[in-house]
Amino acid sequence: MGQYVVGLVKRCFNNKYRHSHPKIIEALKKEIDSKLLTSYVFYHEKRAELVELLQQDAPEGLDKVFLLSTGSEATENAIKLARTYGISKGGKEKHVIVSFSNAFHGRTLGAQLAGGIPALKEWIVNLDPGFVNVPFPDGYFMKDTSFDVFLNSLKEQGIDPKNIAGVISESYQGAGPFFFPKEYAKKLEAFCRENDALLIMDEVQAGFGRTGKWFTFEHYDIKPDLIACGKGISSSLPLSAVIGRSDVMNMYPPGSMTSTHSASPLPVVAAIENLKVLKEEKMTENAAELGKILKERLQTIQEKHPERIGFVASEGLVAGMQIERNGEGDKEAAYKINERCFQKGLLMFAPVGIGGRCIKIAPPLMITKDALQEGLDLLEEVCNEVL
Ligand SMILES: Cc1ncc(COP(=O)(O)O)c(C=O)c1O
Repeated sequence: MGQYVVGLVKRCFNNKYRHSHPKIIEALKKEIDSKLLTSYVFYHEKRAELVELLQQDAPEGLDKVFLLSTGSEATENAIKLARTYGISKGGKEKHVIVSFSNAFHGRTLGAQLAGGIPALKEWIVNLDPGFVNVPFPDGYFMKDTSFDVFLNSLKEQGIDPKNIAGVISESYQGAGPFFFPKEYAKKLEAFCRENDALLIMDEVQAGFGRTGKWFTFEHYDIKPDLIACGKGISSSLPLSAVIGRSDVMNMYPPGSMTSTHSASPLPVVAAIENLKVLKEEKMTENAAELGKILKERLQTIQEKHPERIGFVASEGLVAGMQIERNGEGDKEAAYKINERCFQKGLLMFAPVGIGGRCIKIAPPLMITKDALQEGLDLLEEVCNEVL
């Protein structure tokens, strides 16, 4: 289970479930045998069941769910809803979408306009001035993590807060992982309420137990207006969702918010079983518990190489180490660590983040303590060799 095929290769292949939990396989086979493989916009029982499951764990008041296929589709939809909401409340001026530097929200046009990685926007050519980036308070690239930076950045860019339709952010930035300081997140929530701007949390990567909470925004004790979900929602077949306030989700008349494969039966049954398994097997709790080991071990590795590991971030079962040399990102060393780990049997995502300097660690949520320890032993051994 989990978004990425990351972890100990040897261990994963020895593992009982690998990435194909028998309950998911069984549900899929049953669905295939029932011969309902497509549903287009029509109702089916499993669709209702999934929507209910998602509602149950969403904050109060977020009681509508729109099912889609990819994470990008979910963030696109959330952006569209926010703009439509803004225009309905304050006219066309109220259309601005605020997002963060280094953010990633997907590969489609709106998602990349909202993203905060300039190289990914080159193909767009004519950027939309209604999309505005502000610095993310990561504490690494942006040392000043006060909310004043957000306010000042808007001011410098000539944005009147009243014209903001929505603010979108990953609950943690994938490139770090970088988390909001809680106080900043609370101020952001208050800012959105004050200016009637929708707060959109992109939980495509962060949701469904990854950081030891069902949704990562729960760490900040905030309530978004819209949640974009993907990846770990099904841990297998393509399914994503937007969960939101019904007054926002009901703005479009029937027939306007559609997608051909929305709630397609096979992904839907995979997602239902996945959500149940995550709970039955206490994977969120597992992520929280094993996350303590992951954090502690990475800090120890950093202490051994303070000049080369500039920053370590970790929450639940997601973590990252920023590899540096002379205070600059060291892409070559990060790549070497990644490659050597792979050769020794530890498969991790290729280095991510600005300049490819970040070793990203995101093991499956069902990883055992022993497998995690073994993986970390190996990572430590390789860091000692390379750094
Ligand atoms: C935070 C975040 N949002 C959106 C997306 C896009 O999801 P998808 O690749 O399913 O379109 C991703 C994918 O990596 C992501 O990490």
